[in-house]
Amino acid sequence: MNITMIGTGYVGLVTGACLAELGHRVTCMDKDEGKINRLLAGEIPIYEPGLDALVAKNVNDGRLSFSTDLASCIPDARAVFIAVGTPSSRRGDGYADLTYIYAAAKDLAPHLQNYTVVIDKSTVPVGTARQVARVIRQENPQADFEVVSNPEFLREGAAINDFMRPDRIVIGTDSEQAGQVMKEVYNPLYRISVPFVITGLETAELIKYASNAFLSVKISFINEMANICEEVGADVIDLAKAVGLDGRIGKKFLHAGPGYGGSCFPKDTLALLRIAQEHGVASRSVEAAVEINAAQKARMVKKIRDALGGSVDGKTIAALGLTFKPETDDLRDAPALTILPPLFEKGAIIQAHDPQGMKEASKIFPDFTYVKNAYEACNNADAVVLFTEWNQYRALDLQDIKARMKTPIFIDLRNVYSPEQMRQAGFTYVGVGRG
Ligand code: UDX
Repeated sequence: MNITMIGTGYVGLVTGACLAELGHRVTCMDKDEGKINRLLAGEIPIYEPGLDALVAKNVNDGRLSFSTDLASCIPDARAVFIAVGTPSSRRGDGYADLTYIYAAAKDLAPHLQNYTVVIDKSTVPVGTARQVARVIRQENPQADFEVVSNPEFLREGAAINDFMRPDRIVIGTDSEQAGQVMKEVYNPLYRISVPFVITGLETAELIKYASNAFLSVKISFINEMANICEEVGADVIDLAKAVGLDGRIGKKFLHAGPGYGGSCFPKDTLALLRIAQEHGVASRSVEAAVEINAAQKARMVKKIRDALGGSVDGKTIAALGLTFKPETDDLRDAPALTILPPLFEKGAIIQAHDPQGMKEASKIFPDFTYVKNAYEACNNADAVVLFTEWNQYRALDLQDIKARMKTPIFIDLRNVYSPEQMRQAGFTYVGVGRG
């Protein structure tokens, strides 16, 4: 099938490359000429494991191409995905900014020729698919098209696997014909028994928010438990293991830490709260999750300060991991971005390392020192803080680190190490919820 992907950001590029891998002929289109030129030159603008090889293979096989020209890639497409950004609105009120979505709908409309399914891939508030349909109809009353909602559930760092082996595929549509086209799009996955949930437009749009909100609630819940563990002398790792072994609860997303970040959870929880408010209903559990998450980040500042004896003035902190999770270069809403500034403002000297995020971080924090590896970050440090559980930090040579540090204080915000092991190695160890 001929497919066009509008927007070659994270979701668009991964989805486009994966659909080509499934055998479709895909054109990834973007207005950003610089980005398309880089892609044409074989350069991948984001860091996502395996994506460069997947793109190269499908370009070579002639199934994946790139373009800035809508007029050339819409008329022949049977399915047109809209995968442009939906950032939180600049007003700071939590609403998703839909400018790019409606602009894409308006721009593609005049080029529609044969029956085309237009698919909202971006995470959008309930009602957006119908509004996209209205925009297209207004621009091109003759167009033969239908709009479908098909939310993505791609985790950064694991996006290709999430696409190829998803837990489910959600298709929101009122039309049998559009549903049929979507089944053809995902047919190879249907054949390997991936469950399809075919539902109405509004339900599909809400499913994405509900899924991310639930995961956010789960993380905030375990962080709250971690804080109770610290006060009563209990251990959150054992607690999460036992709780998670209950099949009704499940063990995933029960890792206590410095709070969730990233491009989805913070934005989508706020957007869901706005949707609820707008319709006069409350979503107290999600509201609490958002508050707990902010408080957790603040609590980490205190944790670090306390570990350093109450003041960070003049103290050197080795910051390991700046991205919001491993295997990405994405710093959006990363806990380190909230936790480090108040320490820096109170006089801490930050020596930071991250395998992929330093380029971006140095734009945000030009006054931090950036070093080549975790060991250099520990030179003369008063404390090391592990913010993100990159594999590189999972088996550090503890004696080497200790020898480099002024004082062997290890603050492990991801509970990578065991308190016992760290004490034996001669460190003062502080984890999250390791009472
Ligand atoms: C998320 C969803 O998982 C994905 O389905 C959705 O479509 C996009 O948003 P992503 O933001 O890439 O994916 O990362 P995810 O692995 O979900 O982690 C989000 C944040 O939660 C990270 O900061 C991570 O460190 C944190 N987290 C996750 C925890 O603190 N504890 C956990 O147990 C799991």
